[in-house]
Amino acid sequence: MLRSRIAGIGMYVPGNVVTNNDLKKYMDTTDEWIQERTGIKERRYAHRTEETTTTMAVEAAKVAIERAGITATDVDFIVFATLSPDYYFPGCGVLLQRAMKMKEIGALDVRNQCSGFIYALSVADQFIRTGTYKNILVAGSEKHSFGIDFSTRGRNVSVIFGDGAGAVVLQPTESNDQGILSTHLHSDGASAEILAMYNPGTHANHWMEQSLADFDDAEIGEMFMSHKMLDGAQIFPFMDGPSVFKKAVVKFPEVIMEALNQNGYKPSDLKMMIPHQANLRISQFVQQKLGLSDDQVYNNIQRYGNTTAASVPIALCEAWQEGKVKDGDLVCLAAFGSGFTWASALLKW
Ligand code: UT7
Repeated sequence: MLRSRIAGIGMYVPGNVVTNNDLKKYMDTTDEWIQERTGIKERRYAHRTEETTTTMAVEAAKVAIERAGITATDVDFIVFATLSPDYYFPGCGVLLQRAMKMKEIGALDVRNQCSGFIYALSVADQFIRTGTYKNILVAGSEKHSFGIDFSTRGRNVSVIFGDGAGAVVLQPTESNDQGILSTHLHSDGASAEILAMYNPGTHANHWMEQSLADFDDAEIGEMFMSHKMLDGAQIFPFMDGPSVFKKAVVKFPEVIMEALNQNGYKPSDLKMMIPHQANLRISQFVQQKLGLSDDQVYNNIQRYGNTTAASVPIALCEAWQEGKVKDGDLVCLAAFGSGFTWASALLKW
């Protein structure tokens, strides 16, 4: 049976380290609050003008491609996950294809926020299993630092997020001891607006708290992006953190157990669980719920914050680089986030 395996993995984080105390320059917050509520000590911010979501993904992809023992021209498909694309359109996939001088291959953009990388991996997995492609580059990258509210008004969101990128090369294998065993994707759009960036968008504000009566004709004519949106900070991500937290701690264990049950495993069989780095308290809750030991769960949110679509490949890459994931090890990737969407992937490294 044909399966896909991760043949190479790479990551990139910008050199600029931003500590919790650094954020106090912009907003009313404390190192104590951030560490206690999220576990985060510092995060990386991309260079404001010289780095983009795509350029960071290119750096991660170069490493993944080299480690897979191929060249950029061998890549036959791209799947790129991000919520912070360089442009509203086109997506980052084609920008990566151009930057890496790849052939005129397909480039697919995935918009599933925190679950984006696992969704992207799942799409790539299907193409490999059917024999359609042989070297798929799957990237997750975010430049959050360019699109968050650094005033006290936005502090519940802005202190959490960081920039970075991760990438893998997926290749086919016929081995029973290696590769992606299964992926599990879910969504519940009922709460789509509680973790979202509404603008720019084509919704014309119909669902927002403000009624259309609050806008004059000229503003309705420019609902895509208006001065009122800018003045009201409606161009930044919105998050009802506690509601997200409550759902996350239910759906993370559920989707991990779904992956284990489908393949006849139990939590104690896991060598490593790589949760999306949303909040250290969420990871610890999931760990406790599944009865996992400290060395079965990998966390690096302390150093990078929440890098959304990049967090799972960055954490997996570091776990592997540190020798915590070895050939044949059972590894579960899991994520939950905006949408809501949530997902898991069970693999043998
Ligand atoms: O990866 C995408 C998915 N996202 C998540 O999974 C995030 C899930 N949610 C969370 O991680 C947490 O809800 C947060 C870390 C976002 C917030 O932590 P919390 O313990 O849920 O705090 P809260 O939002 O209930 O706010 C508690 C207090 C509020 O003050 P009052 O109303 O009690 O006076 C906030 O205004 O903390 C205040 N606060 C802050 N104080 C200092 C909010 N942000 C900050 C801040 N610094 N950065």
